[in-house]
Amino acid sequence: MATAQRIVLASRPVGEPKPENFRLEEVSVPTRGPGQLLLRTIWLSLDPYMRGRMSDAPSYAPPVRIGDVMEGGTVSEVVASGVDGFDIGDIVVCRSGWQTHFVSDGRGLRKIDPKAAPTSTALGVLGMPGMTAYTGLLDIGKPQVGETVVVAAASGAVGSAVGQIARIKGARAIGIAGGAEKCKYVKEVLGFDDCIDHRDAEMAAKLKAACPKGIDVYFENVGGKVFEAVLPLLNPFARIPVCGLISQYNAFEEEKGGRAMSFLMRNALTKRLTIRGFIVSDFAARYDDFITDMTKWFAEGKLKHRETVEEGLANAPRAFMGMLRGENFGKQLVRVGPDKA
Ligand SMILES: NC(=O)c1ccc[n+]([C@@H]2O[C@H](COP(=O)([O-])OP(=O)(O)OC[C@H]3O[C@@H](n4cnc5c(N)ncnc54)[C@H](OP(=O)(O)O)[C@@H]3O)[C@@H](O)[C@H]2O)c1
Repeated sequence: MATAQRIVLASRPVGEPKPENFRLEEVSVPTRGPGQLLLRTIWLSLDPYMRGRMSDAPSYAPPVRIGDVMEGGTVSEVVASGVDGFDIGDIVVCRSGWQTHFVSDGRGLRKIDPKAAPTSTALGVLGMPGMTAYTGLLDIGKPQVGETVVVAAASGAVGSAVGQIARIKGARAIGIAGGAEKCKYVKEVLGFDDCIDHRDAEMAAKLKAACPKGIDVYFENVGGKVFEAVLPLLNPFARIPVCGLISQYNAFEEEKGGRAMSFLMRNALTKRLTIRGFIVSDFAARYDDFITDMTKWFAEGKLKHRETVEEGLANAPRAFMGMLRGENFGKQLVRVGPDKA
């Protein structure tokens, strides 16, 4: 019997996830029933939000249960179809999780054209992270011509798109990234106006020098010491789309918040800041605008992107743990299966 693989949540991590929090299981390939599709995974997206799903702390989405397959977005191929509108060989984006095969009734699947762009981009610049950047920046950040936009994790899936869209809209884009190689890429390949290394002891002073007119939009991806460096530089009426706080995801509950909080609230008041948290799904109605604009900018060469590819489902935990430490360079993907069966 043909076998499939899946990775389940074996236990909940305390602090950084460890290999023992995951378990690789070999099972038989599921069989589809009437009105169902069998999908084979090609690409699995690894995303920081998955750390939240491993925890049972209250959040906007329920946690993965112990023993359940880890959640995740994939690009998959239809290998057997009993659903109208889907044919064998169709390529779809779906949420089939960390596994090689998945049975679906077709709901929530989105077909993509593999000739229009590499299929992996449907999980990156033309997928959820790209839409997060597009909506968070344009709908909350609202950058104006000549304003200064700052974003951290600037070489990553979301941050790279934020800075490039800011530039397309006529704003200055300042990135913050981990290490000289990522900063060089952000400036020279992505075309940001500047990029500061957050591991540099002089990070705060260098950020100030890179933002002589202050900061009008801070797209928050990381929190922690980057946020503390940004806060004094914010201009009156600055906007802060709060997208993520990756520097805090492995922190224990009692370590979160802390001394920055009163400083933040004082700045929010005196500078009349707009601070708005969001989840990309809040802007689902903007999908058509997103895909129209981003596909055009991508085709025009205005949106560059980069990927880090891990080979094989079994290595997904290692790649995920590495991503939380900044070891990925661009969108983190796992190659689960070949493009064509
Ligand atoms: N609200 C939403 O709907 C939504 C949707 C998608 C993503 N997000 C959030 O957006 C952020 C970026 O996600 P992504 O998918 O684009 O991931 P990514 O940037 O491709 O990868 C994560 C990056 O975070 C950086 N990082 C990790 N620890 C850090 C720390 N302590 N200080 C500073 N930077 C650190 C690392 O880059 P460096 O090496 O450059 O530090 C790492 O490469 C995350 O916070 C994520 O949770 C939110």
